[in-house]
Amino acid sequence: MITRLLHAKTASIAEAAQMLRNGRLVAFGTETVYGLGGIATSAETVARIFAAKNRPVFNPLISHFPTIEAALHEVIATPISQRLAEAFWPGPLTLILPRHAESQICDLACAGLASVAVRVPAHPVARVLLRAVGLPVAAPSANPSGRISPTNAAHVVAGLEGRIDAVLDTGDCPVGLESTVLDLTGAHPVILRPGAITIEALEHVIGPFAQKETTPSPGSNDAALRSPGMMSSHYAPTLPLRLNARNCHENEALLAFGTPLSHAPLIWNLSASGDLVEAAARLYAGLHFLDKAGCAQGLKGIAVMNMPGHGLGQAIMDRLQRAAAPRMTHPDETAFEGGG
Ligand code: TXA
Ligand code: MG
Repeated sequence: MITRLLHAKTASIAEAAQMLRNGRLVAFGTETVYGLGGIATSAETVARIFAAKNRPVFNPLISHFPTIEAALHEVIATPISQRLAEAFWPGPLTLILPRHAESQICDLACAGLASVAVRVPAHPVARVLLRAVGLPVAAPSANPSGRISPTNAAHVVAGLEGRIDAVLDTGDCPVGLESTVLDLTGAHPVILRPGAITIEALEHVIGPFAQKETTPSPGSNDAALRSPGMMSSHYAPTLPLRLNARNCHENEALLAFGTPLSHAPLIWNLSASGDLVEAAARLYAGLHFLDKAGCAQGLKGIAVMNMPGHGLGQAIMDRLQRAAAPRMTHPDETAFEGGG
């Protein structure tokens, strides 16, 4: 299969929408990361998404919509979901809700669960595209399962060329971290994946989270059961990561935050001024860069400087901990790499 690169102009957005309607796989930019889109109503198309990413089929996909109404139409909405939708959509929040009996979304997209993940992205091109498609679009991050999420079209091409029909190039993703995944199916809301909408921002709208019911720690059984994508080894570059680095060894690349440690042979600074928003936007591009350039220079690892754990820092640290987690190598466990 030849993967076409489409530039986001009116005609090519319409063409991408038509390809999606025809059941093809088209990656497109959102405000968070690039998604690998396919219509969520067709089990055949959804199966091809799983195959292109090499993603385990027990890990469900997020369905994307152009409007709040279209998204909530597929689920059994509650007063709290309505409030959250009004506060954060369009935007980087994914809600897990009970699937409506008449939902058009196929079982495979939901991995057979009774719940479904829905999101209304804020990216203007994504919204035009979704409106033109007129059907729910399943879109996991457009990377091979277990690898770093793409924040530009070149990252998508590097990971999935020949495996998908097209990439709609919308430039760099402004936020750079995946959406926050919030489970609303239980007695209390639970954050399954910290992300672009901070806990503080959510609490501002729905009040404090019950203790112990926020983010399960990565790789815990609880996390794996509630959200199949919350596996510990995830977002992994090829070079190993060393967190909380206070120095940089001569054979290590450096992922810096603020004033870089001296003597690093290769540096990507997430934010020289110590700004977490800038750091989030530059995180995956930095990991892609250090991994590729570091391997080319024969370096053996990536040292990661510490950063604050509040606000977006929490989601950034979550991704870095997953990227640093030991890789599972047992054949039966490779499936657990994939939140993809
Ligand atoms: O920002 C994002 O969310 C991006 C863009 C493209 O929208 N998408 C994305 O999708 O990150 P993905 O597939 O890489 O991550 C979706 C996460 C996974 O951890 C998955 O397990 C979880 O959402 N998820 C999806 N449906 C779920 C469900 N019904 N119950 C629990 N977790 C679910
Ligand atoms: Mg992913």
